[in-house]
Amino acid sequence: MEEEKVQTATLACRPEAWFERLPLVSQAFLARHHRPLVTVSYAQSVDGSIATRNREPLRLSSHASMVLTHRIRAACDAIVIGINTLLADNPLLTVRLVEGSSPQPIVLDSHLRIPLHARLLERTDRHCWLACTDQHESQRVGAVQGRGAQVIRCRHDRRDMVELPDLLRQLGERGIRSIMVEGGGRVITSFIEARLVDQMIITIAPRLVGGLPVLDRPATGNGSLLRFDPVVYQACGPDMILWAQPQWQDA
Ligand SMILES: NC(=O)c1ccc[n+]([C@@H]2O[C@H](COP(=O)([O-])OP(=O)(O)OC[C@H]3O[C@@H](n4cnc5c(N)ncnc54)[C@H](OP(=O)(O)O)[C@@H]3O)[C@@H](O)[C@H]2O)c1
Repeated sequence: MEEEKVQTATLACRPEAWFERLPLVSQAFLARHHRPLVTVSYAQSVDGSIATRNREPLRLSSHASMVLTHRIRAACDAIVIGINTLLADNPLLTVRLVEGSSPQPIVLDSHLRIPLHARLLERTDRHCWLACTDQHESQRVGAVQGRGAQVIRCRHDRRDMVELPDLLRQLGERGIRSIMVEGGGRVITSFIEARLVDQMIITIAPRLVGGLPVLDRPATGNGSLLRFDPVVYQACGPDMILWAQPQWQDA
């Protein structure tokens, strides 16, 4: 991302000022890397919780931060969540708080566990894409396709889940230039572990929760560290927004 790098700075200005300069979609990136640009964006409490321990949804972001989140959604070609987030939150993943079109919703759902009454399957503006592994019953494929979903068959990784490099390659072939990974923790952890994160935009809400941590396992690999450089901090209503590019340092 060198040609698109945003300078390190602590900007005492409205979020719009630095947001406008963020690379969120790039045809050049797709052409060069044969995969979309990946922006991981989620909300956490100060102690790093993204939900309750029982995976019940938690409203962490202020209205101002939610507006920013919807702007990121509107700027990306697609939005990715894990099946557990769908089961917990039953989200629509639309853009409602700002002008702009909603990104293509994609659910990582290796075994096509999505309930046929999920709200994402009710949408008529954009039919959901379900990324699954190649081991599943064709009857289930027919059922979700009957609800309008498109199935993207991917290779499976060592955990029997969707192999992310294969998924991103296929998304690139479909012309998806950028994705916003909204969660939850397992999906974010997998993207970090695979080193497939180009930037992170984290809303930090001034709350202590003691809930579900964002990383569900050490994700940086044996002895290696993930640090952020460059990094920008920005107040947004009562919240802090952290924008950063991850750098992996091998021990
Ligand atoms: N605060 C926030 O910003 C925020 C945002 C989103 C979600 N959340 C919260 O996060 C919680 C859910 O998080 P979670 O960690 O339990 O689950 P998750 O990340 O939403 O979904 C994980 C599931 O996705 C499927 N998956 C398929 N391929 C995968 C891959 N390569 N890597 C990882 N997962 C893959 C797996 O299920 P299969 O094996 O069945 O495919 C896996 O168990 C909910 O409580 C939700 O409210 C919070």
